[in-house]
Formats: sequence, structure tokens, C-alpha cells
Amino acid sequence: MEDSNRSSNPSIHDISDPARRTVLRAGAGLAAAPWLAALAGCSGRPAERPGTAPKLGFKGIAPSTADAVVVPAGYSVQVLAPWGEPVGVAGAMPAWAGDASNSAAEQALQMGMHHDGIHYVPLDGSRRGLLVTNHEYTDDGLLHAGGMQPWTPEKVAKSQAAHGVSVIEVELKDGRWQMVRPSRHARRFTANSPFAVGGPAAGHALMKTAADPAGRRVAGTLNNCASGLTPWGTVLSGEENWAGYFIPGETPTAHERRWGIRRNTWYRWNEFDARFDTVSHPNEPNRFGWIVEIDPLDPDSLPVKRTALGRAAHEGAWVAVTRDGRAVVYSGEDARFEYIYKFVSRDRIQPGGARANAELLDRGTLYVARFDADGRGRWLPLVHGQGLLTSDRGFADPGEVVVKARQASDLLGATKMDRPEWLAIDTTSRWVYCTLTNNSARGAEGQPGPDAANPRARNTMGHIIRWLEDGDFDGETFAWNHLVLAGDPANERPEAKGNVVGDAFAAPDGIAFDGRGVLWVQTDVGARELNRGETARLGNNQMLACDVVTGEMRRFLSGPVGCEITGATWTPDGRTMFINVQHPGESPGDRSDPDVPAKYSSWPDHRPGGRPRSATVVIRKDDGGLIGT
Ligand code: FEO
Ligand code: CA
Ligand code: CA
Repeated sequence: MEDSNRSSNPSIHDISDPARRTVLRAGAGLAAAPWLAALAGCSGRPAERPGTAPKLGFKGIAPSTADAVVVPAGYSVQVLAPWGEPVGVAGAMPAWAGDASNSAAEQALQMGMHHDGIHYVPLDGSRRGLLVTNHEYTDDGLLHAGGMQPWTPEKVAKSQAAHGVSVIEVELKDGRWQMVRPSRHARRFTANSPFAVGGPAAGHALMKTAADPAGRRVAGTLNNCASGLTPWGTVLSGEENWAGYFIPGETPTAHERRWGIRRNTWYRWNEFDARFDTVSHPNEPNRFGWIVEIDPLDPDSLPVKRTALGRAAHEGAWVAVTRDGRAVVYSGEDARFEYIYKFVSRDRIQPGGARANAELLDRGTLYVARFDADGRGRWLPLVHGQGLLTSDRGFADPGEVVVKARQASDLLGATKMDRPEWLAIDTTSRWVYCTLTNNSARGAEGQPGPDAANPRARNTMGHIIRWLEDGDFDGETFAWNHLVLAGDPANERPEAKGNVVGDAFAAPDGIAFDGRGVLWVQTDVGARELNRGETARLGNNQMLACDVVTGEMRRFLSGPVGCEITGATWTPDGRTMFINVQHPGESPGDRSDPDVPAKYSSWPDHRPGGRPRSATVVIRKDDGGLIGT
């Protein structure tokens, strides 16, 4: 887990806040901190209730450790589009080989590995549409017959082909969803597909490489985690833990260190692809860490890296709309002690879909969040020439500010968060929610201690924060509180009990509001912690439904062994929900053993000699009703 923020920025607002300064100086006296009242129950600050949400109508399920997707009585699940299924490019639909013997070229025409964010884009209402799915990373023990022994250029190419994003067409026929193949919309984006660059870093010196001297055409997208849908019909996909693909020289530069580029790489692509060696290609990492915009409705469109939204280990990006029609894009970066961002477009959203808004996300203002101890917060503008973001501080121009968004945020005193993952916007109440999945390093020796927004030392359980902007979504100040501190009241350690109303859970990751205003919360407890220690009683990773008015969490789904549950999207009628099961059978702390690929899970095929596969799961109510009622 990346942990690269050694900036001293908290001192800026610690010192300006006498109450907080006292608490931090008190050290062991943290119990005196007013925000720790939140541990005893819902903090209720500020007093107003954020909106209204409808009742949860299903009977919650018990924690499960079964190698199966478990849902409440009255609901059914169906597996769709697992890793390796051909996406449906006409004349190029190589069948899945259950022994992982598909070639790199075949993999580039099939569903990638490790499904994550997903969106349904209607072609014909709730009957036929496109599913746009991120493929976050690869487990090379599972991806290749024989795993990484030996490690070859062909395996690197296959690993790259299993990354990226897929677009498939699906339709509902006789009560079951199926892939439409071939489809003129079927597409794969991989770690080698062409991407355009928009915004202030387009053509910037820091983006130029030998292969792309203009700095305007990047090969590929990496570690695509969560995604959001724009009002103009495109998908925004986050490039998350891209640092792990690169290997630096013996002494990484300060810029590389700040971005977590280290001497060890999980992927070992650099051994056969020099692009991932920063000694020969120093600017290549600057071309990753962006939000990429994909237009699934135009199969010939070139996706664009939107640099105005800032560079980060982006979990994903989610769009709100101001009353006068401008786009506000919220994003965070899932790394310990990193930040939450928002971008406000200069121009209004235009009618006319993707083409009419082709440059909307290239011009606007980027901000980073500071959460203060009094329940208020401020968006700090990352604008070149303003405040400390000047040439003499190392920011030559707007392009350098967005490429070095972390360093700029350090200077401004942004709040170091406990791994910001997904965001979700309640369009009725206008509150914005963000999961902070966990941070076991909070309060450790030499690391930042608890603060108001991240109130627990050794935060193994995670929490969900929310805020209401002053005025409109473009507001520069806001009020915030916690929806919930996750945990299990049966735990002994006070910081691991949480204040959950309803079913206990840990490590909130994916969140999304459905059309009724129910907040769906998905969990990602790491394989090393799953079903042991402080999460021993919580079962496999799961999905809960939350009534954000009462705060009640009710467990709706439990995933197979070793998976995380991620991604949530609905047909417009609310009667089909699609989610993703990622990395079933994940090996605790390592890659899968190629000799025993189904050691922990054989979901979903459960075939002797088979292997676990990430897949999309379709959830329907047996009576055809709305999901969650
Ligand atoms: Fe890819 Fe932060 O989950
Ligand atoms: Ca995630
Ligand atoms: Ca996660």
C-alpha cells in the first residue's frame, strides 16, 4: 500500500487551530478530542439531516464465508462477462481457454482481468445497453498457464492486454441478461491503446517522451479502478496505483519518491518493455495518474486523459452539476495520507452529448480539500500563480501544477486522508459522500496522528465522510460530518468498534446512490485480514444498503471467498443492478499459485481444474421489482 506523503503540511492548520494544537501536543490525551465523541454514536454534526431516503425493504443476510454470491430471499444472481469472455468484436471472438493459454492478442479481444468500476449506458432503455467495465490489475500467477515461470515478453504483453477498460453490449431476453456478440460497440482499451491528452498538461515538457515528442498521445491506461458517468454520456475512469508499474534508477528522484515510484515493481513489465524503466523514460510516469474520458456510444472515438482534473492515484471521478449547469468533478486518491480533489468547469454543460462537451473538462479550476476540526472545510485552489504555487516554488506553469498536484497540495496544507476511495453525490440533498477505506498507519511512529476528519489511530475499519457545499457544488467552503465509522462492536479495541447502526462491516470502498436514494456500500477488506483478527466476524467482502437519513446499514450481498465487491450500476428502471466481483480466490498477500489456481476459490465456474474469474454479477428481484425494496 502506497504511503509516500512525507510533507509536513498538517502543521499549517494545526498551528492555526488552538484546540487541535492542544490535543496533538497532549498525545495520549487524545480521548479529550471533541471529535472522538463520534466514536460513541452518530456525531450528528451539523444538526440538519441530509435529505430523505426510502425504506430498505429486504431482509438482511448473515455474514457468509461461502464461495458463492449470497443475496436475500426473493433475489437472484446471474454471472455475466467473466474474465476471458470475448467482448464481441466482429470476426475476432477468441474463446476463453480455461487453462489460461489464451495469447496476448486473444486477451486483447476478451474481457480483461479484475473487473472494477462499471456503468450501464442505455441503447434501448432498460432492455439493451452497453456495460463499460474497468479492469484494474492482473494476478500473473493466474493469468498465464504456468504463472510467471518463466517470465517472457509474451506474458508482459498479455498482462498489458488484460488491463484497461472493456465495452460490451448486453440485452435482457426472457428474464436473463446476455452479451450481444458481435456488436459494433464492443471495444477493449488496454495498456497500449492510444489516448489523447487534454487540459493544461497537453504538450507540456513533462509529458514529452521519445515515442511522443509532442506530449499529446499516450499509449494506454493503467490500473483503472472506479468510474463515474457524466451527464453527457461519457465514462470517467481513474488511473489508480500506476506507480507500481514503473521502476526508477538506484536513487529515485524527489518527484518519483513523492509519487511512490520505488525500486520494487509488482508487475515486472520493465524487464521486457523499457517504457516502464524511468531511467530511460523519465517522463513516462507523468503520463499516468489521470482521469480518462471514454465515449462508449461512439466506437471510433479516441479516449482523452483530462489533465485539468489533476494527477493522482485516482480511484475514480464523479460529476455533480451546479444550478447554472457547470460540471463539478469530485475525485480522491486511494493512498495513505493523500487527498480529495474537486474540479469546477469554467463552461456550462451543453446539450448534444459527448461531442458538444468534448473540451468541457479541459478548462476550469482544480481544488484540494482541507477538513477543519470545527466541522467546516475549505477547498484550496490549485491555481498557478496564486498563493504558493509560483515559479520560485517549483511550479513553472499550470501544466506543472496538475502534473505535480500532490506537491502543490502539500504546500497548500490539504488534509491527509485515510485512503479516499469512491465518492457518491446525493442529488436530492446535495450532500457528497466519500469512503475512506482504512489506514492502519494512522498514528503510527513518525506518521500523522488522528485528526477530526480521520479520527481513529490504526484505522483498520475505515469510515465514510460527507459534506454539504456552501451555496452550490462550486462552493469554496463546506460543512462536513461522518456518516459512519465502520467496525464491529464485538471488537475489544475501541477504535475498531465503530458506530454502525445495523450490520457490522469494514473497509468501505465502492459507494453509489440508486434512483431511490439508497446508498449502496461495498467492502474491500484485504485478503490478509479477511475473516480474521478484527474482521473475523464480518464474513467475506460484501455489499450493504444504507438509509442515509437513519444511518441504518443492512447487509444485502456477500461475495465468494477472497473477492472484493466493487462497481454498481442500474438500468434506468431500477429493476436490474450490475456489480462486479473482483479477484475471487485472492491469495493472502501474494499472487495465485499457478499449480493450484483454485486453491481458495473456484467461483464462478466451480469446474475441476478450473480457475477463479472476476465477473459481473446481475441482480434481479424475482418478482421483477425495484432492487432493495
Ligand atoms: Fe482500486 Fe482503491 O481500489
Ligand atoms: Ca476500490
Ligand atoms: Ca480498495
